Amino acid sequence: MKQELLEKLDGYSDIMAKIETSRQEGSDFQELKGTVARYLEQLHPNQVNLELIEITEETESSRTLRFAAKEGNLPPFQAGQYIALHIDTGRIKTSRPYSISSPPSRKDYWDLTVQRVENGLVSNYLLDEVKTGDHFASSGPQGTFCFNPLIHDDNIVCLAGGSGVTPFLSMIREQVDKGSNRRIALLYGVREPKDAIFYDELISLAEKHDSIHFHPVFENPPDGFQGPTGYITADVIKKTIGDLEDKTFFICGPQAMYDFCLEQLKELKIPGRKIRREMYGAPANPWDCEGWPSEIPSDQSVSVTVTGARTVSCLSGESLLNVLEKNGLKIPAICRSGECSMCRVRLLKGKVFQPKGTLLRKSDRMFGFIHSCVSYPLTDVEIRL
Ligand SMILES: Cc1cc2nc3c(=O)[nH]c(=O)nc-3n(C[C@H](O)[C@H](O)[C@H](O)COP(=O)(O)OP(=O)(O)OC[C@H]3O[C@@H](n4cnc5c(N)ncnc54)[C@H](O)[C@@H]3O)c2cc1C
Ligand code: FES
Repeated sequence: MKQELLEKLDGYSDIMAKIETSRQEGSDFQELKGTVARYLEQLHPNQVNLELIEITEETESSRTLRFAAKEGNLPPFQAGQYIALHIDTGRIKTSRPYSISSPPSRKDYWDLTVQRVENGLVSNYLLDEVKTGDHFASSGPQGTFCFNPLIHDDNIVCLAGGSGVTPFLSMIREQVDKGSNRRIALLYGVREPKDAIFYDELISLAEKHDSIHFHPVFENPPDGFQGPTGYITADVIKKTIGDLEDKTFFICGPQAMYDFCLEQLKELKIPGRKIRREMYGAPANPWDCEGWPSEIPSDQSVSVTVTGARTVSCLSGESLLNVLEKNGLKIPAICRSGECSMCRVRLLKGKVFQPKGTLLRKSDRMFGFIHSCVSYPLTDVEIRL
């Protein structure tokens, strides 16, 4: 606007006089402009640039990758949170969520402990192909699978299966670092001792700290093993934990383990509000999920048309997110479990299968948005990104 016009506006000269006084008296708020946004960006960055600084072999099928910030500092996180690690394998650009296994008190690095998944794209890449000095990008820390002193009991019982032990390591290490009134009991179900990630560390921490209790539950126990065996049943929970009052239960592990443990906790009459569950990705076999139409085989060939881009073919059993990424169309994704909404696309034509429990907002349902990470094309579909 021209200066002459501005000067004619009501109150213009008063405002200018106030700005001038503020400048002279040292409270020119122009200096602070953007400060809040800068703080927020430091605390909750959209992207963190990382350098892989150390690799530790944990078991035959798992390793810990230690990452430092490539520049600046790592943003803070809460024990139990995860990051989405972006990967470029050369053939495909994708991402996977991994829980941070180091404690929040270690501000100079994040540890991710990755277990090999048979035929898994990223886990095998991270176990076999990466080396120290490699650079990666990730999301900032995400998720609410964390201890909240306002809601949770001070006694927490963690039920873990396989690599689901990783968020609990962060919680246990934090407890050891900080000390508090909290007590953590970990029941860790694995096939045999050689498969138990962090086994020696957990044994040693439990020996040294009264607030940490570690109960491995082996399917194939070694000779002479005195602890619980088989699965994490109601009976095993009751015998190892004793009094179940005033305890909050956290579960992290594969879907089958979660379903099983949930039944056991129900049998023990643990109220739902005392049970927290971490997501563990999209279902391994969506066609085995409740509601998958029995007449549609998982290998039925269908087409996916992306409005304004192109049409690609895929199988009904593949998630739309994987199909898009395979074809070089990268869309934002964080949890890959149907919870965070980042991967939303609009379904314009056709039918998709969405497993029971997929969290869609009412407005998403009304306007045809779906989470591409847990949507499987049952017919030819058209979507808009
Ligand atoms: C919040 C969150 C935190 C996670 N934290 C960790 C962690 O700390 N350490 C870790 O190793 N993994 C963790 N995961 C799992 C991880 O994100 C990947 O799913 C896993 O590494 C497999 O990826 P992939 O690319 O190798 O397999 P994909 O190529 O994606 O999958 C190959 C096949 O294996 C199935 N599959 C995927 N994951 C599993 C699994 N875990 N067990 C059995 N079958 C599977 C898929 O459905 C598919 O059929 C976490 C997942 C979530 C959602
Ligand atoms: S990536 Fe989170 S809902 Fe799909």
